[in-house]
Amino acid sequence: MNNNLENLVKGISDINMDKLDPNVSIDMEAPEFKDFAKTMVDYIADYLENIRDRRVLSDVKPGYLRPLIPDAAPETPESWEDVMKDIERVIMPGVTHWHSPKFHAYFPTANSYPAIVADMLSGAIACIGFSWIASPACTELEVVMLDWLGKMIGLPKEFLACSGGKGGGVIQGTASEATLVALLGAKAKKIEEIKKLHPDWSENTIISKLVGYSSSQAHSSVERAGLLGGVKLRGVPADKDNRLRGEALEAAIKKDLEDGLIPFYAVVTLGTTNSCAFDYLDECGPVGNKYGVWIHVDAAYAGAAFICPEYRHLMKGMETADSFNFNPHKWMLVNFDCSAMWLKDPSWVVNAFNVDPLYLKHDMQGSAPDYRHWQIPLGRRFRALKLWFVLRLYGVQNLQAHIRRHCGYATQFADLCRADNRFEIVGDVNMGLVCFRLKGANEKSEKLLRLINGRGNIHMVPSKINDVYFLRMAVCSRFTKPEDMEYSWHEVSEAANDICKE
Ligand SMILES: Cc1ncc(COP(=O)(O)O)c(C=O)c1O
Repeated sequence: MNNNLENLVKGISDINMDKLDPNVSIDMEAPEFKDFAKTMVDYIADYLENIRDRRVLSDVKPGYLRPLIPDAAPETPESWEDVMKDIERVIMPGVTHWHSPKFHAYFPTANSYPAIVADMLSGAIACIGFSWIASPACTELEVVMLDWLGKMIGLPKEFLACSGGKGGGVIQGTASEATLVALLGAKAKKIEEIKKLHPDWSENTIISKLVGYSSSQAHSSVERAGLLGGVKLRGVPADKDNRLRGEALEAAIKKDLEDGLIPFYAVVTLGTTNSCAFDYLDECGPVGNKYGVWIHVDAAYAGAAFICPEYRHLMKGMETADSFNFNPHKWMLVNFDCSAMWLKDPSWVVNAFNVDPLYLKHDMQGSAPDYRHWQIPLGRRFRALKLWFVLRLYGVQNLQAHIRRHCGYATQFADLCRADNRFEIVGDVNMGLVCFRLKGANEKSEKLLRLINGRGNIHMVPSKINDVYFLRMAVCSRFTKPEDMEYSWHEVSEAANDICKE
């Protein structure tokens, strides 16, 4: 026998025939699942309630995990108790605890018990809601939740499906996807407009002339959307407070028009990543409308604050926008991923992505959204459950309290910082973010951050604007208390003492 045949015969003789008998269970049985899941729920609650006591920043080295587990998957099942034991041994040493009150890096990512439970149900239903018929509840709950959420933040009714117009919302995975989807919709719209004006121009000619805009402070995902969408995107200088003004946007658009280019898309950021600055939507929006430029509003982090009426002045001009996005998975207690996006006229996006093979068609097409046309992937989870559970089990008032508490903690930290004359606050304290630095050369603040993160008791990341390096203290955890702010400030101040001693 040649080797291949020998292996085949050996492979067949190795097959455990018992396992092919449908009456012999190969699955975990329901009673065992219940024990496993209940144990896990206890573990999760203990983990989160005691998260403050763990070192926030993992100190493992790259490659730490491989030696801790076998080289290959087990041939026969292990017990769930063994799996549970390995969570502390294998996983937790390499976890950075994003939900610790000592975590102040990036922006928050949300976490709440109602959202975790909703994800369990979503995992059980495990449908792929790419079209209405693929699981009507998945689509219909999403449509209604995006209306609830839109009303909560005071979005103009043109964005809401319940208004009976064209508008509506969708849950994307991330703000980056929303920016790209909006860009592709804007691109499709402009190409169609230009083709009508210049029927002799090829699509490639038109695309080569398209140009989009964002503030120089916009998130890196905006630049990436330009690269992925195959169009030019320009960073327009923000003002001294890091906010994009209408005048600057208009000057850039006019210049490009003079140069024979075709302005088609602008991203207005409400709450920039560097410093949580707010572009002037009420100035940029009308400029976009005047020049036929699609306005997309990226409020990934700060958009959640618009559930509090006192912050809505920052979204003035929203009626001029074509699309709006914020992440409930950042600051509204809905676990990742849940990025809410609204479009005034989704048909541009729907048409840009409309590929309709027979196996995805259904008789009800057109009477409810088929969300596969609103996004980049085909598959989508039942994410609206997380929103539904969180909105019902917190209620708007408790969600507002969550936002207001975080803003209050930022003010508390900023006051501690101001009271120490070695430090300065950079720019305004907006929302739950404080940007601060040691007075003097950048190197001092760079060293400060190295010391802080090296101690591992709290975690922050830096940023730099106009060559000024600073530390960002973001309030991230729903468990944060005033004492945690004092602790974090103490850590900063101790690290500063070490630098001063030198
Ligand atoms: C203003 C802004 N836009 C976009 C993003 C990207 O968010 P996502 O990870 O959801 O793509 C961020 C992330 O922090 C952000 O702050």
